[in-house]
Amino acid sequence: MRKITVIGSMNMDLVANVDHMPKVGETIIGKSFEEIPGGKGANQAVAIARLGGQVHMIGKLGDDGFGKTLLEGLTKDKICVEGVKIETNTPSGVALITVSEEGDNSIIVVPGANFTLNKEDIDKNIQIIKESDFLVLQLEVPLDTVKYSLKCAKELGVYTVLNPAPAQKLDDMIIKNIDLLIPNETELEILTGIEINNEEDVLRASKNLIEKGVKSLIVTLGSKGSMYIDKKGFKKFQAHKVKAIDTTAAGDSFIGGVCVCLSEGKTIEEAIRYGSRVGALTVTKKGAQRSLPYKEEIEALKED
Ligand code: RIB
Repeated sequence: MRKITVIGSMNMDLVANVDHMPKVGETIIGKSFEEIPGGKGANQAVAIARLGGQVHMIGKLGDDGFGKTLLEGLTKDKICVEGVKIETNTPSGVALITVSEEGDNSIIVVPGANFTLNKEDIDKNIQIIKESDFLVLQLEVPLDTVKYSLKCAKELGVYTVLNPAPAQKLDDMIIKNIDLLIPNETELEILTGIEINNEEDVLRASKNLIEKGVKSLIVTLGSKGSMYIDKKGFKKFQAHKVKAIDTTAAGDSFIGGVCVCLSEGKTIEEAIRYGSRVGALTVTKKGAQRSLPYKEEIEALKED
C-alpha cells in the first residue's frame, strides 16, 4: 500500500438544518443544530483512512475545544497526525453550514488556525512528504502554502492531487505542478473564466488547463456523474443513483475514494467508479465526517 499525505483544513462544522434556505434579509427558524467534524482536508484524510488507505495529515488547529475534538477524531480514524500542529492563541477553523430539506447546502468557512499554515510548517514536515507517493491538497489553507507544497512534492517525485475548493484563480506555477486536478463545474468555471453549460464547455475549459500544464482532470458533475480528461482524450462516468439527504463532503469522499484506488495501483477508470460509489453513499447520510463510509460499506453496495 502506497502512502498518501493530505495537506489541508480541519474545521468544526456548525450545521443548521432548515426547511428552506433563507433569502437575503430573511430570518427563519431552524429545525436542528449540530457540531460535526469537517474541513475539506480532514474530510479527505478521513475518507482515505476509512477506505483502507495509509494517510498522514499536515495542518493547523487552534488551542480550543474544537481543536481537541478534531484531533481526537483524526486519531480515532487511525490517521497519522504527527504533522498536525496546535497554534496558540488562535481559534480552530469553523464552517457555518445550512442544509435544506432537499439536501442542498451553503457553507461559510472561517479559517482560523488553518490560515496560519505556512512554508516553515511544510519544511518541518518535508520528510513526511518525501516518504509519500501521493500529496492531496485543497484551497482552505493559504495559497502560497499550497503553491510551495506542490513545488516541493514535484521536486521529490510525489504525485500531486489538487481539489481547487473553494475556487480561486491559480497562477501558472501552481497549474504546472498538478498531476490530477479535481474541480466541480463551478470551480472549473472560476479557474478558467469559461462559462460551463454543457459537456463541450467542460472539455474546452479542461483543455485550456491541460495546455497550461495540468496533467489530467476529473471534473465532478454532481448527479450527472463525472468526466476524466487528459492529453489523449476524455471519458464520461455515470453517477451512482441514490436519494440525497445531505451533499456535504460528497466531493471530499469521492476524492478519498479515487486516491485510495490509485494508491492500490488501480486504473483511473476503476478509481473514478469507486469514488462515485463512495460519494453516493456519503450523500445518503447527514454531516461531513460522520457520513464518510467505510470500505466494507462500499463493498456491500450494489454495482451499477
Ligand atoms: O467539503 C465540505 C467541507 O467544506 C465541510 O466539512 C466544511 O468544513 C468545509 O470545509
